[in-house]
Amino acid sequence: MFITFEGIDGSGKSTQARRLAEHLRAAGHDVVLTREPGGSPGAEEIRRLVLEGDPDRWSAETEILLFTAARCDHLERVIEPALAAGKVVISDRFADSTRMYQGLSRGDLRGVVDKLHSLMIGREPDLTFVIDMDPDTGLARARGRNGTEERFEDFGAGLQHRMRDGFLALAAEFPGRCRVIDGNRPPDVVAAEIAAVADKALA
Ligand code: TMP
Repeated sequence: MFITFEGIDGSGKSTQARRLAEHLRAAGHDVVLTREPGGSPGAEEIRRLVLEGDPDRWSAETEILLFTAARCDHLERVIEPALAAGKVVISDRFADSTRMYQGLSRGDLRGVVDKLHSLMIGREPDLTFVIDMDPDTGLARARGRNGTEERFEDFGAGLQHRMRDGFLALAAEFPGRCRVIDGNRPPDVVAAEIAAVADKALA
């Protein structure tokens, strides 16, 4: 079973991905918790290239190639071997993030993202949690971390609002695998809802 978490920056999805991994491990599942961009040594190197520096460091087109290259390595070296060994893989972001961030942020490049995805990746998750969060709250939380990975946060509140609307539309586009979770609630409440959905899907 391949499970992904998606949502805007500061939506709490990393915390929730970790909580679900802990929940499933306690229930006896063999779980690999991973993230994108990154998740394998080569993809983590690409992560630094795409998340640090000026917002205009790369064009959206170049970013599509970089994120897809990172994903290809992550898929070949981490995700596919784990799934083949019968493990549950939980990834904090996957291809839906490229559909949103590179597909929508600077013009409509969704068609390019989808073509490259089917050519080089060709896999969708079995279950995707879209954590919905107020965009201004999310941006304040993300900026509060004060790290170096701020390239997308520096695109500002306008991008956060477009991404939030985009993720909700994406969940409607893929209703079979996507569950929208209200992230504007205490983390324990959110985690309990996610655990219940995952338990049912794994049963
Ligand atoms: P994170 O905050 O979940 O670690 O994600 C880092 C940033 O990378 C986030 O702002 C979204 C962005 N991103 C893309 O733009 N495209 C992608 O394909 C992925 C996986 C992430």
